[in-house]
Amino acid sequence: MTQPHRGMSGVRLFPQRPHHHDTLYNQKMQRIYLDANATTPVLPAVVEAMLPYFTESSGNPSSAHLSGQRTRAAVERARTAVAALLHCTAKEVVFSSGGTESDNLALTGVLQTYLDNHEPAHLITTQIEHHAVLYAAEALEKRGIRVTYLAPNCEGLIETAALEAALTPETKLISVMLANNETGVIQPIGKIARIAKAFNPAILVHTDAVQAAGKLSLDMDGEFKNVDLLSLSGHKMYAPQGTGALFVRSGVQLMPLQYGGPQERQRRAGTENVPGIVALGRASELAAYWLNANASSFSHLASLRDRLEQGLLAAIPGSHINGNTTYRAPNTTNIRFAGIDAESLLIALDMQGIAASFGAACQSGATEPSHVLLAMGLTPTEARSSLRLSLSRLTTPYEIDRALQIIPAAVARLRSVA
Ligand SMILES: Cc1ncc(COP(=O)(O)O)c(C=O)c1O
Repeated sequence: MTQPHRGMSGVRLFPQRPHHHDTLYNQKMQRIYLDANATTPVLPAVVEAMLPYFTESSGNPSSAHLSGQRTRAAVERARTAVAALLHCTAKEVVFSSGGTESDNLALTGVLQTYLDNHEPAHLITTQIEHHAVLYAAEALEKRGIRVTYLAPNCEGLIETAALEAALTPETKLISVMLANNETGVIQPIGKIARIAKAFNPAILVHTDAVQAAGKLSLDMDGEFKNVDLLSLSGHKMYAPQGTGALFVRSGVQLMPLQYGGPQERQRRAGTENVPGIVALGRASELAAYWLNANASSFSHLASLRDRLEQGLLAAIPGSHINGNTTYRAPNTTNIRFAGIDAESLLIALDMQGIAASFGAACQSGATEPSHVLLAMGLTPTEARSSLRLSLSRLTTPYEIDRALQIIPAAVARLRSVA
């Protein structure tokens, strides 16, 4: 049996997991969780890291006394861990309350100056962004920023020709997501940023990497060296909800969203969420280990996803994958079943112990079809018959096999009653 990996501190990075298929979680819950893009479970090693900061190691990082200094040191260690995951410097990491805040800080933080100075400014984004970007863009548009929303092609990819055609001398910011939360499709951000800088080096480029962090390597010093701002969310990478970060490249000026203390180099006022930040730091260490030291994990996750996808396509007539399957996060599939109402399917699956989703989590329950799938050219009926399945690092082959028994049977039952 292999030894569990140990971090530099000697603390276990991964909990010891049984070798048989069931994980600790599934033994307890007996449920098959295929909704990791909505949120991931917090890893036990992450909980272990944050717990002392609720009790014996509590303190305000801005306090001068020893308790304050200790929590300050913990915050800075976490910042270094996030920076290591992104291949950037620690001072380029701003902690936030999650992906939504990071996206809002990036867009409004950059464009507020132009509004204040009554200077014209143009933002280019896409029709398939998460609402944290889309609605922030719409709010800026109402305040006088000109916004272009690029349409994807039918595979969910933004074509660089469309971006080139949209660039103007007034373009100040481009915000294009890395991995889409609904389809997993990955945009060519490195290329988009190179095109932007070649057009005008002053254009800033933001990417929402909430669904990419911990799944794909993010190198701000390599492929993404022209990207200026990048959003992360803790709860998509095995840290708690309400934690996140924004990478802000050195030299980029941001207006803060809120006013108060000088925390986070005056970019994000408010006493730091120390346990949450420590958790995000530990989750980043685990993600870096998972991505680098353990390269086979990526293909393992992708192969589980592919097995699920291929199994469903083979077992269910009239099923199709939505989106490009080459440029895609390894854990996500978005699949439509002709003649099926995905909401009814979700309820049926939930009753049989499978958690899946219908577009973004915040849209679940909404009757509107996914804006991402509509932008890709699906009809409202096709969009409403689409299911998102997203695996986590804890998903097991056993769970995939069970899902391959349950989902086709549920689809067949729904079709027979229809
Ligand atoms: C792509 C993307 N961006 C932003 C967010 C928002 O992140 P948070 O829930 O941390 O606010 C999400 C969450 O679903 C997401 O998937």
